[in-house]
Amino acid sequence: MNFHVMTLFPDMVKNGLMTSIIGRAVENNYISINTYDIRDYTTDKHRKVDDYPYGGGAGMLMQAQPVFDCAKAVKERIGHDARVIFMTPQGRTFNQRIAEELAGEEDLIFLCGHYEGIDERVLEEIVTDEISIGDYVLTGGEMAAMIVIDAVSRLVPGVLSNEDSGVIESFSGNLLEYPQYSRPEVWMGKGVPEVLLSGNHKEIEKWRLETAKERTARKRPDLYAKYERECEIIKYLNAEKAINSDMTEAIRLNRLRVIYDSNGAVALVDTAKTKVLLYAKDVAGIGEFYDFAKENGLDKVPVLLRGTNPGPLLEQGFKLSGEYKEVAYTRGVPIGTKEVVDDVTGNIRNEINDLLLTGELPIKLVPVNEAETLSVYEKLQFRISKKSLYFCEPLC
Ligand code: ADE
Repeated sequence: MNFHVMTLFPDMVKNGLMTSIIGRAVENNYISINTYDIRDYTTDKHRKVDDYPYGGGAGMLMQAQPVFDCAKAVKERIGHDARVIFMTPQGRTFNQRIAEELAGEEDLIFLCGHYEGIDERVLEEIVTDEISIGDYVLTGGEMAAMIVIDAVSRLVPGVLSNEDSGVIESFSGNLLEYPQYSRPEVWMGKGVPEVLLSGNHKEIEKWRLETAKERTARKRPDLYAKYERECEIIKYLNAEKAINSDMTEAIRLNRLRVIYDSNGAVALVDTAKTKVLLYAKDVAGIGEFYDFAKENGLDKVPVLLRGTNPGPLLEQGFKLSGEYKEVAYTRGVPIGTKEVVDDVTGNIRNEINDLLLTGELPIKLVPVNEAETLSVYEKLQFRISKKSLYFCEPLC
């Protein structure tokens, strides 16, 4: 992932980011941080980049020309178009969901303002996103851009030395992080909780979960309420575990957002709203969700339905474009080499063992018309769902 920062103070950005974890991530080429001095792009012979605002008023404005030419040079260097994020208190307020969305980009360009602002015409021309880091006004966008870069970087695979920690830490789930301790065992007369010295990993996990829950309930009751609600939803979905593991896993790893839950249905959606995962207990559940979808502009989004047959969706102008079975490897221990008899079983073994290693559920969706593949999973003793999952796409 490459960050490109357009600023009048490139040293501030470089110095601020090139230490600790982010500095190491740059050295190891997981990310790059490129700064561009807007002043280098001015055509003014005195290297001036600011001027008085038309109509009067306090302070100076950054002029359009150097900002525009700087953005042009950045895009030429990247070789393709990229999002240009203007850091401003007028933007949408930054949060973990936005960080996750941005982490999916290959290149991000940041524009940091200074003085009293930037000529509106160049903003209209180049900016794709406006982000604020909170309801207060800074002297410039640099520190705000650094905060966004930090939060996005730690989601890039490899940046955190333990890949899991990005998932486990506060916010990615709805629980805040549990307390952590390092050597010495006693510091200023304070010891380390006994359980952490016990070597009993099950007990340690239990303690960490409990302290995270206690902390979240105390410090962030709003997050805790969300966490409790998601626990309830997971329990509800687990009643039909064989078809819903992908949904519970998406909630557990905070990959999808719960947009609807009632007694009859639960729906999850991705940030870009490209797909809805819908569990409906019966056809009435589909009806309930579909009313909600229409009211919320989601009725033209493809649906991966499970729980009941897709009839009502087809009546609403969807077409059935795939029927799947969920296959799950439930044995916990890695698949051994003796199970590998050809390329297909070899690939399945690699995929499943990789998932086990990262702590993700070893589940997959297999099209029902791929009977041979399904029989391979059966031979490998995977649990195969009796019910199907239906991929329904809007006709228009
Ligand atoms: N520039 C000045 N204030 C800012 C803020 N709160 N967020 C983002 N950029 C800014």
